[in-house]
This record gives sequence, C-alpha cells and structure tokens, in this order.
Amino acid sequence: MSSGLKSPTRKNLMLFSGRGFPALTSQIAAELGITCTPASQYDFPNGEVYVRYEESVRGCDAFVVQSMTTPINKWFVESLVMVDALKRGSAKRITVVVPYYPYSRQDKKQRGREPISARLVADLYKTAGADRILTVDLHTSQVMGFFDGPVDHLFAMPLLAAHMHKTYADRELTVVAPDSGRVRLAERWTDRLGGCPLAFIHKTRDPVRPGKVSAHRVVGDVADRTCIIIDDEIQTGGTVVAAADVLFDAGAADVIVAATHGVLADPAVESLKNSRIREVVLTDTLPISPEQMLDKLTVLSIAPLVATAIREIFEDGSVTSLFDGAAG
Ligand code: R5P
Repeated sequence: MSSGLKSPTRKNLMLFSGRGFPALTSQIAAELGITCTPASQYDFPNGEVYVRYEESVRGCDAFVVQSMTTPINKWFVESLVMVDALKRGSAKRITVVVPYYPYSRQDKKQRGREPISARLVADLYKTAGADRILTVDLHTSQVMGFFDGPVDHLFAMPLLAAHMHKTYADRELTVVAPDSGRVRLAERWTDRLGGCPLAFIHKTRDPVRPGKVSAHRVVGDVADRTCIIIDDEIQTGGTVVAAADVLFDAGAADVIVAATHGVLADPAVESLKNSRIREVVLTDTLPISPEQMLDKLTVLSIAPLVATAIREIFEDGSVTSLFDGAAG
C-alpha cells in the first residue's frame, strides 16, 4: 500500500502584470520565454480597481510584477488586489515583484507622530497573501526586515557600473556619494571601478519642507576629475543637481550621475536638463516617458536581471550568486 498520494503536477511559473508599466513585465516575460497570464483589469467609476485572471492559477508559482510609478497609490492597491485574487485562486506561492519598493523612503520616524509607511506596505503585502518580495535597490536595506518572509534584494550597481566602465574608461574617475546614506554603496562602486577614489557630499535636509535640501559640502578629492554621483533614486533631482554644483565649485572636470530609480517627479527633468551634468544613467524600474527622455539620459533595462532572479527563485537556485560579491 502506498504511503501517500503522489502528485503528477510539476511547478508552474506564471507571470502577472500590473498596469503600472506593462512593457517592463513583457520584457521580463520575453527574457523568461513565457507570456503574461491574461487578466481583466479595470477601474470602476469611483476609482476602485478590479482584477480577474482569465486562466486557472491553482497550484502555480505566481510572480506579480508591478512598477510603482504615478499614480503610485493606485498601482500599489492594484498589486494588493492581484495578490488577493491569486491567494483566493489557490496559487501555491506568491512573489510580489516591485522593482521600486513603494514608500521606501518612509522607513523610520524622523519626528513624533509620523508613520513608518515602508513597514505598513510590507504588512499589507503579507496580509494580502504574498509569500515573498523581489525588489531592486531599497532606499535602505533594513526595509527587508519589515516583511515577514523572504525578500530578494537585487542590485543595479553592476549594470550601471558596467556602463560607466565602458563609456568613461579613459577618465580619472571619482565616485561620489551625494549624502552619508550612500557612502557604503559608493565603496562598492569604487571596488567595481578598480579602486578609484571616493568623495561624499554632506547634505542637510530641511525637516519641515519635504524635498528641500538646505546645505552641501564636499569631502574628498574631486578637482580635475570626472565625478560619478551615485544614488538609489532621482525624485525631484534636487540632491544630484545640488551635488553637481558643489562638485563643479570644487573644481570637478565633469559630472555624471548613476541612479537606479528614475522617479523624475517635477521639476527633475527641467533641473537635470538645465544642469551641467553630462550624462544621467538610470534603469527602467520605473517608466520614463518620451517627454522625460532628455538627450543626456541613458536608460538601461532591468528586465534581464529581474528575469534571472525570478528563474533562480522558481528553480530554488541562488539569487545571491547573481552578484558575485557586489551585494551587501
Ligand atoms: C535620499 O536619501 C535618497 O537617497 C535620494 O538622494 C533622494 O531620494 C533623491 O531625491 P531628490 O531627487 O528629490 O533630491
């Protein structure tokens, strides 16, 4: 007599796309050699979102891809609803793929009576039924600890650094952290670029005016060098544009910017355009519209990295191994 039932089914990877940036999901699907599961997704007249999958999801290894672009709250809720529909449709495992983790800058209380919104996001995904999260370059890696489950944290630095290496190999480079929070990342960049020098900007934010940077000072040797400012995201552009001005004032020969997430909220495009920054290199964790596509902007595809990580998760492989010592 048999000791148990043997299932004839094998794991089945299924990809589900939010409406935030479907082109990115399609690229990820193409990298994986699959297609996205068809779904009916629309808004009710009062703004509520509706989702229904057109195929059975029972027993699948589900990956819900959502890009947290504007309107971010809508796309966040849509991703929650997508997870809920998968849970109620008996998906076996649900991974939320958010290349840009929403609310990640709100990861601590700066002052009394503030929320910790990044934690709330993690709790809501857990409550909806997510088993894991896959994301790229969190604002701070501690956010991983907010989610009660595995978080696969990918790094765009090898991709961005490869572009810098290829384009500026003949220059005297200095990697610049635009604030103290990015110094650790800048150290990894300098290792990647063959041990070039590091500088950082001392940045002070105005605590009562959101997005307002109030003071800057450069620490490190930047005179006559090509400075690469590295950052996790460009939101209004205030940080990198102000950093570039400080670097030029300190004698920098040229300034390049590399950042993972192009949030590009107003007035970022105008500020970058009018700045003396030579090139801004981003990934497409968030969509960049044709109007935002400045001549000095280079956008690298994040899809191959995300697709590789999805494959590793599906096949119970190793995501850490993708980074060959670049993580941390
Ligand atoms: C701040 O700590 C972050 O790392 C970025 O520097 C910041 O979010 C960029 O925002 P903005 O472009 O509005 O200055």
